[in-house]
Amino acid sequence: MHMLIEATVVLDNAYQALFLVSDQGVIVVDCPPTMGVRLKYAIGNTTDAPVKKFIYSHAHADHVGGAFLFQGPDVDFIGHEETARLLAQVNDTTRPVPRTTFSDKKTVRVGNQTFELAYKGENHQAGNIFIYAPAQKVLMLVDVIFPGWVPFSELAQSSNIPGYIEAHDQVLEYDFEHFIGGHLTRTGVRQDVLEQREYVLDLKQACTDVLNEDLTGNSTGLVAFQAAFQRDPKNVWASFDAYLDTAIQVCVDRFNPKWIGRLAAADVFAFDNAFKMFESLRIDFGVLGFGSVVT
Ligand SMILES: *[C@@H]1O[C@H](CO)[C@@H](O)[C@H](O)[C@H]1NC(C)=O
Ligand SMILES: *[C@@H]1O[C@H](CO)[C@@H](O)[C@H](O)[C@H]1NC(C)=O
Ligand SMILES: *[C@@H]1O[C@H](CO)[C@@H](O)[C@H](O)[C@H]1NC(C)=O
Ligand SMILES: *[C@@H]1O[C@H](CO)[C@@H](O)[C@H](O)[C@H]1NC(C)=O
Ligand SMILES: [Zn+2]
Repeated sequence: MHMLIEATVVLDNAYQALFLVSDQGVIVVDCPPTMGVRLKYAIGNTTDAPVKKFIYSHAHADHVGGAFLFQGPDVDFIGHEETARLLAQVNDTTRPVPRTTFSDKKTVRVGNQTFELAYKGENHQAGNIFIYAPAQKVLMLVDVIFPGWVPFSELAQSSNIPGYIEAHDQVLEYDFEHFIGGHLTRTGVRQDVLEQREYVLDLKQACTDVLNEDLTGNSTGLVAFQAAFQRDPKNVWASFDAYLDTAIQVCVDRFNPKWIGRLAAADVFAFDNAFKMFESLRIDFGVLGFGSVVT
C-alpha cells in the first residue's frame, strides 16, 4: 500500500485499486479479483469508517470482478452509463450494474473527500473514466498508460485506438502529481505519460511509413503478398496474412530497437502492439496502404 495524503493505492504487483478515507466513510475505486477480499482488509486496517461508494473505472472483469464484495444496502455503486450498459449485457453477478450513472461529469463526495469523474469518450473501452482527486492531485485512468512498461498486448486490448491515442493528451491536461494506471508495480508521474505517448506516436509513425511505402508498388509486404498469392491464388486470406505478418514485422524492426531497455517488456508486446496500430491505421484512420493500391 502507498499512502498519498489520505489517498491509498493498493497494489498486488499486477493490479491497482484506490480508496479515499474520510471520517464519514470510504470511497473505493475498482476491486480486481486478484485482490478480492484482501482489498477489504487493506481498507479495514486503515480506517473504521464504512465503505459508502464504489466506483467502476470501467466494466472489465479483471479490474472490477471483486465489486460484489462491496455490495450492501448503504453502498452506492457508481459508473459511467456505458459501463452500466455493458454490465447489463453480460449479467455477471460479480459485477453488479451501477445504479448511479452519469454521461459527462460527476462529483463524488464523502465527508471532506472528493473525486471528480469525467468521461471523454471511448478509449480503452466505452465508459472508461478519468478519476481525479483534486486535494491529493491523484489521477486514475485504467488500462491506458503503464508507467515504466509498454502497453499490454494490442495496445491494451483497446476498443478505440484513435480515442486511446488521444487519451494521453487528455491525461496531460490534468494537474496531477500521481498517476494510477491500474497495473503493475508502481504509480506514475507526468514523465511516464510523456514517455508512453512518445512510444505510441513513434509506433504510429513507423506503421504509417510502412503502409505508405506500399504505394511504391514494391514494398516488402507487397512482395510477400505476391509470393503467397502465386503459391495459392484462391486463398486470399492466406496471401493477406503473409502481407500483414511481413509488413508489421518491418514496423517492429524500425521502431522497437530504441524502446528495448527503455520501457519494460518492449520485446514482449512489440508485434502485438504494432499489429493493433497497423490495423487501426488502415480501418480507422484510412491509411490503407496495400488496400488502396489499384493494380
Ligand atoms: C486486517 O488485515 C488482516 C489480514 O492481514 C485481516 O485478517 C483482518 O480482518 C483485517 N482487519 C480488518 C478490520 O479488516
Ligand atoms: C442473470 O443471472 C441471474 C443469476 O445467475 C439469473 O437468475 C437471471 O435470470 C439472469 N438474467 C438474464 C436477463 O439473463
Ligand atoms: C479531511 O479532514 C481531516 C480531519 O480534519 C484532515 O486531516 C484531512 O486533511 C482532510 N482531508 C482533505 C482532503 O481535506
Ligand atoms: C524493389 O525493392 C527491392 C528492395 O527493396 C529493390 O532491390 C528492387 O530494385 C525494387 N524493384 C523495383 C522494380 O523498384
Ligand atoms: Zn480494461
